[in-house]
Amino acid sequence: MNKKKTGNEHILLRTLGTLGGGKGMWILAAVFAVISALGMLAAPAIIGVGIDSMFRGDRSFTRLLGYVALLVLIYGVSALFQWLLGRVTNRISYLTARDFRRRLFRKLSALPLSFFDRTAHGDTVSRFVNDVDAVSDGLLQGLALALSGVVTTVGAVFFMLALSPAMTMVVVLFAPLSVWLARFIGRNAQNYFRDQAEIVGRMNGFAEEIFEGRREMKAFRLAEPSFQHFSEMNRTLYGVGVKAQFYSSLSNPGTRVVNNIAYTVVGVAASLLAIGGHLSIGGISSFLIFSTMFAKPFSDITNIMTYIQTAAAGARRIFRVLDLRDEMPDAVDAPAPDAKGDIAFAHVRFAYDPVRPLIRDLDLTIPYGKNVAIVGRTGAGKTTLVNLLMRFYDVDGGAIRLGGADIRTFRRADLRRCFGMVLQDTWLFSGTIRENIAYAKPDATDEEVVAAAKQAGAHDFIGRLPGGYRTHISDMGEDLSQGQKQLLTIARVMLADPPMFILDEATSSIDTRTELRVQRAMEELTAGRTSFVIAHRLSTVQGADLILVMEDGDIVETGTHESLLAQNGAYARLYASRLETL
Ligand SMILES: Nc1ncnc2c1ncn2[C@@H]1O[C@H](COP(=O)(O)OP(=O)(O)OP(=O)(O)O)[C@@H](O)[C@H]1O
Ligand SMILES: [Mg+2]
Repeated sequence: MNKKKTGNEHILLRTLGTLGGGKGMWILAAVFAVISALGMLAAPAIIGVGIDSMFRGDRSFTRLLGYVALLVLIYGVSALFQWLLGRVTNRISYLTARDFRRRLFRKLSALPLSFFDRTAHGDTVSRFVNDVDAVSDGLLQGLALALSGVVTTVGAVFFMLALSPAMTMVVVLFAPLSVWLARFIGRNAQNYFRDQAEIVGRMNGFAEEIFEGRREMKAFRLAEPSFQHFSEMNRTLYGVGVKAQFYSSLSNPGTRVVNNIAYTVVGVAASLLAIGGHLSIGGISSFLIFSTMFAKPFSDITNIMTYIQTAAAGARRIFRVLDLRDEMPDAVDAPAPDAKGDIAFAHVRFAYDPVRPLIRDLDLTIPYGKNVAIVGRTGAGKTTLVNLLMRFYDVDGGAIRLGGADIRTFRRADLRRCFGMVLQDTWLFSGTIRENIAYAKPDATDEEVVAAAKQAGAHDFIGRLPGGYRTHISDMGEDLSQGQKQLLTIARVMLADPPMFILDEATSSIDTRTELRVQRAMEELTAGRTSFVIAHRLSTVQGADLILVMEDGDIVETGTHESLLAQNGAYARLYASRLETL
């Protein structure tokens, strides 16, 4: 328990260190808090003096009005600065949220892809949205309360000491009791708040999966079980949330009881002192007001702690992402890659999961300009080869060289610029058709875009869309067919016109006639440039200069279509089985 607490304090200190707005804002906030609290403290003193002057028989009405006017002025100024304090803390909180979101976003692009293989996307989204809000809101409310609380408490002690040191002792001695009570109750709440953040994250992850798989869910009639699972989580969240709120709601009434007892004791003691002539009536009223002011922050402590605990729970989840190891950084003085160099795999070893080796010892050289086809059964490691070439993952052993230099010596962006890539999973974004095609070359002219679309065989279907090239595609192209999406991504690389190409099942969903046209355009484009084509339809790879046959992460055969058929090995078997199924 103790250990967890220090953890929380550590997290809070770290969060404070990253607060937005810089020192200036904080100093401003502190100044406003002090002025506003001083106003609130001055008022009771004036009330006391006013009452005493009445009791001394000095019943001048103008004098009384003077006190009232002074009070109004002081309360007004105090309220004004209270408002200013709110504005500044608001500002700090939004700046903090903005900075956290920015850092998280940065982090996401710096994290290795293996992070995304392991994490539910919705959970990550939840860190961006819910946790960042929890941190900024929690700090906003918590710190504003804490700041004015500290000033008020300290100030009240000074005023009380001036009036009666003995009674001040009584008031101050009661304070630890209410703090202890608040902490005792708060400790329980804290664990529930942490659980609450975790569950919200998991629910987001699950909801996202259901969204993605909504058709499969219906097809496999899993709607009911999914609903059950979601309800289960929802119920747990309800339970945890209610408990968290229950415990934090206990503390306010709890401390209030303690404070009221203290108030009564002070009242009695003050009356006795007054009877003995040690304290004036005005003094009693001032003192009682001061003692309430002194105690109020202590009952607020539980509120403050609730806010801060929620903030700490959120911050912990944010820091967990921020603390992950980045991909190996790019070298600063990285040389530019030779985009027209040979590609060599030298003793490459790689596994996504260390306990399941995939590529054990891969050796291969591809001279520039060759059209390479990679074939092999599902799961053989074809896409993996591309992942390594693009440095989406780094090799575990050996090296991949481009133009004789290890690709790890280049900046990733420079390396990736050498390749135009069409992936197995098409990726489109919400925007117009034109923007999607021009993704890698935003300054392309309309003519260039249309030419690329024509070359990719996408022009016809785009022409039939209501808005043509200006048609907006939403939700990653959900309103297009799979084949249409592929044509758009092919048009995209054709427009980019890179020195090398990678096509991973780029035409798998396109009808055979269109595919043939695309293939011809592709051949024209890749003539004299290195290209990698992965295809299950062997008809698409027959013309390649070099065919790599993969099995279980190894290249088991290399050659041309004819030489491989003559070899009568893995390729010939693959070819025969395809013929059978046709
Ligand atoms: N991100 C990943 N994390 C862990 N394992 C992975 C990952 N991607 C692929 N694998 C595993 O690596 C192996 C090779 O996968 P790869 O995607 O390279 O196959 P492929 O030859 O492209 O198959 P397909 O023809 O189905 O596209 C498979 O066994 C797969 O389970
Ligand atoms: Mg693949």
